[in-house]
Amino acid sequence: MLRVAVLVSGGGTNLQAIIDAVQSGKITNTSIEVVISNNKNAYALERAKKNNIQNVCISPKDFETRTEFNEALLSELDKYNPDLIVLAGCMVVLPESLIKKYPNRIINIHPALIPSFCGTGYYGLHVHEKVLERGVKLTGATVHFVDEGTDTGPIIMQKAVEVKYGDTPEELQKRVMEQAEWVIMPEVINLIANGRVEVIDGIVKIS
Ligand code: GRF
Repeated sequence: MLRVAVLVSGGGTNLQAIIDAVQSGKITNTSIEVVISNNKNAYALERAKKNNIQNVCISPKDFETRTEFNEALLSELDKYNPDLIVLAGCMVVLPESLIKKYPNRIINIHPALIPSFCGTGYYGLHVHEKVLERGVKLTGATVHFVDEGTDTGPIIMQKAVEVKYGDTPEELQKRVMEQAEWVIMPEVINLIANGRVEVIDGIVKIS
């Protein structure tokens, strides 16, 4: 069984897609051990509760220093002994110690086709605003392993989504989530859970 910890910050629709896929059997060999949010009002926490998944809020606001927050997050994660940490709309900058502790065992979803529209400052709706400003015709989503950089880790899976003339950032975000994010995130977890993802010299091989 792949023991998964999911880190969230907001609505948790990606979390929901993962929960649904575990329940329907699209993801096999996996148990969601805990959902951790940095935001106590995140609806993602409700989704966890409704599905009887352990859930906890660890917010930087509740600690005097970033170091204390980092330590709290790490020790909470340690309690669950996760094989995989999934960042599902997680807006927190992860401590380097956490990234070092889980090499190629943390995955993130980015709402664009990396290496376009990614890196520092590219998150949430802003990504889609930039895509629309540039007038590109294809965007999408990327699931990648997390390393010390921003959106620089090995790419696991990508899915393209059409940009339509006149899209608002919100419309484009919705299409990218429905057509790409909610599809590839569960798919990647299932591949990892079944031992089909390998990283060779920084490049992902799926067998
Ligand atoms: C997604 O677009 C994700 O790619 C981005 O934040 C959003 C999270 O949505 N980084 P949700 O919390 O999973 O609904």
